Amino acid sequence: MLNKNVVIAHRGASAYAPEHTFASYDLSHFDMAADYIELDVHMTLDGEVIVMHDETIDRTGLSHGTIKEMTLDEIKQVRIGKWFNDKYPELAKDYYLEQTVPTLREVLKRYGQANYYIETKAPDIYPGMEDKLTGILDEFQLLTEVRMKNYQTVIQSFSLESLIKMSQLKPGITLLLLCKKGMLRGMTDEDLMKIQMFVYAVGPNYKDLDGELIERMHHLGFLVFPYTLNNEEDMERLINEGIDGAFTNNPDLLRKQFRIDNGEIFE
Ligand code: G3P
Ligand code: CA
Repeated sequence: MLNKNVVIAHRGASAYAPEHTFASYDLSHFDMAADYIELDVHMTLDGEVIVMHDETIDRTGLSHGTIKEMTLDEIKQVRIGKWFNDKYPELAKDYYLEQTVPTLREVLKRYGQANYYIETKAPDIYPGMEDKLTGILDEFQLLTEVRMKNYQTVIQSFSLESLIKMSQLKPGITLLLLCKKGMLRGMTDEDLMKIQMFVYAVGPNYKDLDGELIERMHHLGFLVFPYTLNNEEDMERLINEGIDGAFTNNPDLLRKQFRIDNGEIFE
């Protein structure tokens, strides 16, 4: 059951390879054995669900275009590794230059029954996204009772509305509410308890977290998975404070910190 010491590879092993590419997911999934692949999904003009963090191709594609105004064919012309090679010359690899934007179906085909944390990004600008997403996940048999029971396919969003839609489409689906800084502290226990009835975990900004807030969330019945925990000092602090796992660009480092905490390795 994936509810303890959970390593969620944020955009893949994105500290080492260009985010949201097969290069990055291969590294986290096959080489680092992270528990989950994290995916941000958007929809193209012709209704294809694709994986990318931003709403435009500008940053990682080094060109101009908005996903919802582009067809899949147009998006497939874009290469999304050069920005990484330019920014991190010490990590640059030639084959990163060939990396393209994956569709969700391509990812699910390649990694099969792996564990996924899928974020509905900007769901307000993609009407019908939740329907489309559940359809694709069903097609790949990723929303079976067993997988839901074991938290193997999780939908995450900053939009509570999007999570409500998902739970209406698939009662019992595993959901995580992403929280901007200050959000959880601004909510009453009563409001949070209503959300906890269909949301199993919260994903706060790690800078917002301390032992007291983690304990409060646990007391309300949530697991706690902060984003995005990339340095060892923060990892160590929050593991000691009681997090259940985290989103990280460095899945290898987080796994190591959990093992140190478990007494499996000594430093
Ligand atoms: O989904 C967790 C974390 O990824 C949220 O922030 O902006 O990196 O998608 P972002
Ligand atoms: Ca995300």
